[in-house]
Amino acid sequence: MKPTVYITRRIPAEILEIIKKECDIRMWDESDTPVPRELLEKEIANVDGLFCLLTETVDRNLLEKAKNLKVVSNMAVGYNNIEIEAAKEKGITVTNTPGVLTETTADLTFALMMATARRLIESSDYLREGHWKTWSPMQLTGQDIHGATLGIIGMGRIGASLAKRASGFDMKVLYYNRSRKYQIEQDLNIKFMELNELLKESDFVCIMTPYSPETINLIGYRELTLMKKSSILINTARGGIVNEDDLYRALKDGEIWAAGLDVFEQEPVSKHHSLLSLPNVVTLPHIGSASIKTRMKMAELAAQNMLLALKKKTPHHVVV
Ligand code: NAP
Ligand code: GLV
Repeated sequence: MKPTVYITRRIPAEILEIIKKECDIRMWDESDTPVPRELLEKEIANVDGLFCLLTETVDRNLLEKAKNLKVVSNMAVGYNNIEIEAAKEKGITVTNTPGVLTETTADLTFALMMATARRLIESSDYLREGHWKTWSPMQLTGQDIHGATLGIIGMGRIGASLAKRASGFDMKVLYYNRSRKYQIEQDLNIKFMELNELLKESDFVCIMTPYSPETINLIGYRELTLMKKSSILINTARGGIVNEDDLYRALKDGEIWAAGLDVFEQEPVSKHHSLLSLPNVVTLPHIGSASIKTRMKMAELAAQNMLLALKKKTPHHVVV
C-alpha cells in the first residue's frame, strides 16, 4: 500500500507528479493561502508524510494529533516553524532544503543592500508620482556600496555567498558568528569581530543567522545605537531577530540611516505596520529565495527528502 502524504499548498505540477508515483496525495489546493489550522489538525491525523512551508506552525500540539506521521518535510532552509524537540520525541524525521537557495538568497540580500543604500524604491516612486522636475546636486542622494564595510552576522552558507559578492564591490567584510570560520576567513579575506565591535565598525550590517532562542531580539535598541548614524541594517534572515519596535525608534531617532527588510516578526505584515510608514525602510514580502529555478529546486528537494524518509532511507537534509 502506498503511503499517504499531506501537502499544505499547491506545488508545481512536475513535483506533484514525482510524489504521486509513490504516494497517495492529499493537498490544500483551494487558494494561495495557508491551510486552515483546523483542517491541518484533521489531515495530519492519518498521513505518513507532511510536505509543508514556513507558513505552517508544526508545533507539539499538531504533532500530538498525528498517529502515523513519519516525516515533516519543510520547503525552506529555516525550520523555526517546527517544534524540533517534539518531533524528535515522537521519532518523526524533519527535513529542510539548504544549499539550493543559497546563491539566490545572497543575490536578493545584495540587491536589498543596493536598493536601500541608493534609495531605489523611493526614487522610482518619486518619478512615477510626478515629483521629478529637475536634476539637482543632492537630490535623492544615498550611501556608497563600493569601498564600504559590510558586517555579516551569521557566516553560514548565505553569509559566505554574500561575502563573495561584496568582494566585487571592494568592500571590507567583517563577520560575527557563534563559531569562528577560519577557512572562510582565509578564502574570502574576511575578519571575525565580536558583535559590538562589528556593529560599531560596519556601514552595512546584514543578518544571516537562523531564528532560534539565542537569536530572538539579537538586535535591539542598544545594538542599533552602537551602529554608525550613516549605517544600514539589512535583514533577510528572520523577523524576530531584530526587535521591530526598537528598529522603528532607532530609524525615527536617526540612530541608523536606513533599513532593508525581507522578513518580519509576524508575516504577512499589514500595510499599516509602523516600519512601512518610514521612507528610509525598503520592505519586501519574504522573497529571498524567490527565483523560478530555485523555488523549483526547493520543491523537488523537499519532495525527495520526504520520499526518502518514507522509504526508510536517509533524506538529503535531515534536521532531526
Ligand atoms: P546556515 O548555513 O546554517 O548559517 C547560519 C549561520 O548562523 C551559521 O554559521 C551559524 O553558526 C550561525 N549562527 C547560528 N546561531 C547563531 C548565534 N546565536 N549567533 C551567531 N551565529 C549564529 O544557514 P543558511 O543556509 O546560511 O541560512 C541562514 C538563515 O537565512 C536561515 O536559517 C533562514 O532563516 C534564512 N533564510 C531566509 C530566506 C529568505 O527568503 N529571506 C531564504 C533562505 C534563508 P554555526 O556554524 O556555528 O552553526
Ligand atoms: C526561507 O526563508 C527559508 O528559510 O528557506
